[in-house]
Amino acid sequence: MCGIIAVKGQNVLPKIIDGLKRLEYRGYDSCGLSYKTDVIHTVKTIGYIDNLEKKIPNKKSNIGIGHTRWATHGIPCEKNSHPHISESGKIACVHNGILENYKELKDKYLSNIKLKSETDSEIIPNLIEYFYNKQNRKNLLKAFFSAIQEFKGSFAIAFISEYDNNIYFARNQSPLVISKFGDEFFLSSDVNGLYSKNQVFYLPNNYVGVLSDDFHVYDNNLQEIDIKYTDYSNMICDINKDGFEYFMLKEIYEIPNAIKKTYNHLKTIEFVLPEKIDNILFVSCGTSYHSSLVGKKYIEKYAQVPVECEIASEFLYNDYLVKPNTLAIFITQSGETADTLKSLELAKNLGLFTLAITNVPNSSVTQLADSTINMQAGVEICVASTKAYTTQIYVLLELTNFLINQKKELYKSIDKNRTLIEGNRTINYIPYSEIGLQNLMDINISDIDIRIDKVAEKLAKLKHLHIIGKNYDYITAMEGSLKIKEISYIFTDAYPCGELKHGTLSLIDNDSYVVAIMTERKLIAKTLNAIHEIISRGGKVICITPFVDVDLSDACDVIFLPDLESVFLPIVSIIPFHLLSYKITRLLGYNPDKPRNLAKSVTVE
Ligand code: AGP
Repeated sequence: MCGIIAVKGQNVLPKIIDGLKRLEYRGYDSCGLSYKTDVIHTVKTIGYIDNLEKKIPNKKSNIGIGHTRWATHGIPCEKNSHPHISESGKIACVHNGILENYKELKDKYLSNIKLKSETDSEIIPNLIEYFYNKQNRKNLLKAFFSAIQEFKGSFAIAFISEYDNNIYFARNQSPLVISKFGDEFFLSSDVNGLYSKNQVFYLPNNYVGVLSDDFHVYDNNLQEIDIKYTDYSNMICDINKDGFEYFMLKEIYEIPNAIKKTYNHLKTIEFVLPEKIDNILFVSCGTSYHSSLVGKKYIEKYAQVPVECEIASEFLYNDYLVKPNTLAIFITQSGETADTLKSLELAKNLGLFTLAITNVPNSSVTQLADSTINMQAGVEICVASTKAYTTQIYVLLELTNFLINQKKELYKSIDKNRTLIEGNRTINYIPYSEIGLQNLMDINISDIDIRIDKVAEKLAKLKHLHIIGKNYDYITAMEGSLKIKEISYIFTDAYPCGELKHGTLSLIDNDSYVVAIMTERKLIAKTLNAIHEIISRGGKVICITPFVDVDLSDACDVIFLPDLESVFLPIVSIIPFHLLSYKITRLLGYNPDKPRNLAKSVTVE
């Protein structure tokens, strides 16, 4: 949430704009920048960075800070957008995060100051200046440090001032990275915002730093530490649309390749996990939560390990009962989701071994977890998660294989013919064949896309849409519903087929549309039942299925999925929803990459 950029170098204004454009997926309701000539100048606007770019003057400056905002306190407008300026006008500051005690700080230290905005962030430059004045204007770093000691909540902060030519910064929970490029320094909320990734330094939590003539970092006792850069130049942050109109469509078409790259990567690494895993707990949010639900089904069915799935914001408050030998898994595309990170800390405090599954190397989750599996889906810019979801499910399938093999090792002596009976089920080595996997990686998205335009035209006219499915297909229904709501603003809801008759059927009439997913052969009859219950009450059904041999002549449309091994169908059955939500959104004239009120990286609780 919110993106911060700061640059110390030559002619920094276009460089700040470039960085902000790279970070725009973090928030985009308003933006601004401050730069210094002899005094501080600030330019702000509501909306996208393109608007800001049009407003910046053709001026040369050697230091500046920029910010793209996702509003938490105060509506999106110029006065609430960053940078915020101290009352004297001499300090300009950008902030990502939430200061929980900003009202107390205002009352305690700044009662005689009239704030201009409705934000928590405006306190920060004023409190720095308060301590700077109180400490006889001797040392701005120490004044900054004093202010930070007062803050409760999460923050990444950068500021410039008229008192010197430095950029000061600090962080707690919200990330900050610094890169050196020639004799220039770039500060960013994440690696994606950096122009050059050869020499990158991740600022540790609770540390502060200053870009003066050089680059200095101090720990939480203000002791200077050594800086070791890491090379992230192989981390490709492809911010080109490659001929696609929007990132979302590009990212949907990248699904097969994202799985292929992750498959190749997983072949080269070993999962670092405890030897004995008797229980699994997944904790995650949104789309990542839905992938954990698929993971639960894979793991319980094929590896026979009991699994619980928790939504991170609920897990924090539900008094989780610890079970022996529990592996806690945190799935997060961004690696920065605040609820997930807090849950991870809680799990560690409960004594659980923690595993992160993420798409962003070196993100905060990787620094907290005991072990990490990095997916290789490539940077996902569109707020709606598409290729990350399908890749997460693929990783969970490979994790299932790992757990199966781990059990096989434990029971080696009775494992004679590559199968093992445990409880009432047979455990097989691998729930798919190599050819089946190859077929998954070779799917052609255009084949699924064939009927989407026609269906999207019908659905774009609706005020609400129902989606149904059984077992795995119910999870796809939930994720499909989230996707359509998230970007097209059409209300959708998801139900298990069998639940319709327990309430929702009363909503079905001649105007109703229902999307029914049917990918499990053994459940065809049950899903067809639900479809006929809808049709006989006047509802219209669009069916998503790989089964060409089933009579669906009653349906108003059928979207066919590729014929893959069944274990892969939860990966591909979501793709029609990706395409539908994209196309409905375009038909309605909205921007699918930047849905209102949302941001890619949710770094606030
Ligand atoms: C996905 O389309 C959503 N934008 C959202 O639900 C997302 O999956 C959720 O915020 C979790 O993000 P994470 O995977 O980065 O933790």
